[in-house]
Amino acid sequence: MGVFDIFDNGSRSTISGISLNRIADIYGTPVIVYSARRIRDNFTRLKKAFPEASIFYSVKANDNPRIIELLGGMGSGADTASPFEISMSIFAGIDTGNMLYSPNNASLRDLEFAYDRGITINFNSFTQYSKMRGKMERISFRINPGFGLGEFGGITTGGSNTKFGLDPDSAILAYEKAREDGSSEFGIHMMIGSNNRNHLQLYEAYSSFFKVADRISKEAGVKFEFVDIGGGLGIPYSSADKDLDIASLGSMTTDEFSRHGFGHLVLEPGRYIVGDAGIIIGTVNDVHNGFVGTDIGMNINIRPALYGARHMILPLSERTEGEEMTVTGQICENTDRIGQIAYRVMEGDRLMVLCAGAYIYSMSSRYNGRPRPAEAMIMEDGTDRLIRRREDFSDFLSAVV
Ligand SMILES: Cc1ncc(COP(=O)(O)O)c(C=O)c1O
Repeated sequence: MGVFDIFDNGSRSTISGISLNRIADIYGTPVIVYSARRIRDNFTRLKKAFPEASIFYSVKANDNPRIIELLGGMGSGADTASPFEISMSIFAGIDTGNMLYSPNNASLRDLEFAYDRGITINFNSFTQYSKMRGKMERISFRINPGFGLGEFGGITTGGSNTKFGLDPDSAILAYEKAREDGSSEFGIHMMIGSNNRNHLQLYEAYSSFFKVADRISKEAGVKFEFVDIGGGLGIPYSSADKDLDIASLGSMTTDEFSRHGFGHLVLEPGRYIVGDAGIIIGTVNDVHNGFVGTDIGMNINIRPALYGARHMILPLSERTEGEEMTVTGQICENTDRIGQIAYRVMEGDRLMVLCAGAYIYSMSSRYNGRPRPAEAMIMEDGTDRLIRRREDFSDFLSAVV
């Protein structure tokens, strides 16, 4: 698996036989283009590595219902973080019995929204659970096992100084209370961070979590019907990044899991399934002061400004190596930088930003009055489909009263 796998063999400008220049001609720029084949391949590889696990695609990575629908058709469930993500997943055809709700700081209304639809909730704290006390037959808590694992501080969600989860001792008390309150089915959850490409580190983390879960199970007197190890499976963002050895991770984890007496294993991956399956295509509008000025800015890809994330950026057609320059967008912030380009570019050229399938559209904004981009999907039969139109001014006015 590599950063260029989305393209047809040997090509860096066609996907399933379709020219990306043609997509940009049809839909304009900026546009995010997804490969249905790549999403399917990623999901299939994951399923092969973890054949006995239930996979709940984490909708926050990319909430386009056509993508959720594609994954639902392959047997994926949906892991959701808000009522609207639940609604989006229902719209995309996912059965509520095949959904998880893993929110934090949810209101009673949010929690009831999930509960009323029969969706299993991963509670982030005992106080969150208390809002629903006595109602829940099936209950799961998110555990902070005392360590985190993520590519950047901003996407490390375990260990000290995070708002996520209960420490193991508090979790024991929480499960005891839930048992006393009448709950009879139990799950346990952790999500310690994102974009991890080292299978040994992930395996270590999962093994430690299984030990923590064992202890909680014994001391609280509950049996875990499911153990949810969250998302966090990483992808390469540049050709220098190492690939996650998913096959080894899957077999080592499955073996270790089978040594405990838990029910079934659950995964909630987002990035691994869609991250390298999307590309943003944009246009160079200016080259000025040594910066390449494009129509792709932090309004579309906030990750570099937010975490210092890196994305490979290439010209769509002519590729002549040149002096490295910073690529910027149209936003009035000096953090409006989406990466570096080491090719010669001129006004009017088209660029592409790779690995833009996860945490791009779903984290985009309308800052500076810029509409969100169009999204197109290249289908496996070599046809293309607009899956979300570019926003227009009516979208800016739609909530104004
Ligand atoms: C609770 C939960 N599950 C799953 C995910 C998906 O993570 P990833 O995209 O790294 O697989 C996240 C991401 O933040 C999350 O918060």
